[in-house]
Amino acid sequence: MTVIAKTETSGARPVMNAPELAPKTIVKPNLLTVEDAKALDIERMTELFKAHLNPGQLHFMKLLGFHKVKIETAEGMYYIDQNGRKILDFFGGFGSLAFGHNHPRILEARTKFQAEKRHEIAIAFMSQYATALASNLAACSPGELDMVFLGSSGSEAMEAAVKLAERAAGPKRPKIVYAENSFHGKTKGVLTITDGQLYRGEFRLTDNTVRVPFGDIDAIETAFRTDPEIGAIVLETVQGGGGINEAPREFWQKLRQLCNQYGVIWVADEVQCGYGRTGRFYAFEHYDVVPDITALAKSLGAGKAAIAAMIARRDIYMKAYGTPKTAMIHAMATFGGIGEACATAIEGVNVLYDEALMENADAVGAHLVERLNALKDKYPRIIKDIRGRGCMVGLEFHDFSQTLPAVLRPVVGMLDDKLKGSLSGFVGALLLRDYDVLVAFTEYNRNVIRLLPPLIVGRDHVDKLVDALDALLGRGVVSIVKDFVKSQVK
Ligand SMILES: Cc1ncc(COP(=O)(O)O)c(C=O)c1O
Repeated sequence: MTVIAKTETSGARPVMNAPELAPKTIVKPNLLTVEDAKALDIERMTELFKAHLNPGQLHFMKLLGFHKVKIETAEGMYYIDQNGRKILDFFGGFGSLAFGHNHPRILEARTKFQAEKRHEIAIAFMSQYATALASNLAACSPGELDMVFLGSSGSEAMEAAVKLAERAAGPKRPKIVYAENSFHGKTKGVLTITDGQLYRGEFRLTDNTVRVPFGDIDAIETAFRTDPEIGAIVLETVQGGGGINEAPREFWQKLRQLCNQYGVIWVADEVQCGYGRTGRFYAFEHYDVVPDITALAKSLGAGKAAIAAMIARRDIYMKAYGTPKTAMIHAMATFGGIGEACATAIEGVNVLYDEALMENADAVGAHLVERLNALKDKYPRIIKDIRGRGCMVGLEFHDFSQTLPAVLRPVVGMLDDKLKGSLSGFVGALLLRDYDVLVAFTEYNRNVIRLLPPLIVGRDHVDKLVDALDALLGRGVVSIVKDFVKSQVK
């Protein structure tokens, strides 16, 4: 190979045989293509998942029978697997599929955006897409919730919310109140206000927090009155991971009043319950109150894009980041406001209103709750409670021993704590195996099955789910356990 080297006298001249200067040929590793990825079979996927993703997680997938399913396509309310089986989706990507899978208007907006070779990165020049999305979110938000920060995940939006609250509250009020059974994300900052020991692990977390029972206004009042260092309170409006827990209207009204009285900033986490899921754009709108800061993610990306938003009152935002000197402290990250994700979210929020999906969530959700309550009346020994509204509904089973014939109860009762979640697991696994229905589980109260269907759900889908549950519970818990055990040894 000929290499051009520089000499002092003659400038560039060819030099032969100087291998140390020769550019190395970089060998392409054995890479899979997109087409290879699509064609991976279950065995190979399992090998690669074990080798490179999360071997431990496979254990849970095996228990639920998820490891046997390869999803090929997805449309509307359904996943379609390698055998052409249609799986009805009441899991809804933990609430991230307001429009179901691959809504045609969302696909069209994205395809057009790509065909027009639009730009993506929003950190050098202003982005028309990020600006339009921010304007749309402000238009959907009540009160003075006008200022928007765009990120890529619910955790990132909640990090932004907590940082904003901390700066606006000032250094003398660094403490944050959060609730038992809360879930606000797994990144290091919001982990301090995420209640699950599972996620907190043994990480070193800051101790500027005060924990109160969810919905306990007296505990909050006492905390505000006795601790002047409290500057913010962070609450999910409806707890998702906690098992679909709501607090009554009076709680939220009093909370607003206490926050005003003590000058505490209220952050409402609407990552799961927001974006129309409960039948209003934000769940807090059911209670005629407006928080100071809120956050959306999940369905904001219409099931196609990773996008999240923090939305804040303008005066709070300006206090924290309103000058050229402070503006960059928490400006958007590399992928904040990225083009196609914003275009997706702009189209999504239009679809939400154009297709009256909040009204649909409200009406079909009422049908779901009504039918589940009838099921509870039919199986009072198995189902303990039905709660929630719209497309965010929880079905809680009794502790396992209580669902069994009387003779077995005393012995099994001693194991109830260890067996929490087992009936939800058996029911979830058999709903999938025998009835082609997918439901979600709950991190903290594992006796709860979480139903977070897309907002496009119809009464017929609800009927299919409830009929399947009815047929399954009708087998009796002992048979359900036997069927589950058989499915594990096969
Ligand atoms: C209420 C709530 N907040 C925050 C998050 C974190 O969102 P993400 O998983 O996108 O980081 C979640 C996710 O489930 C959530 O349910």
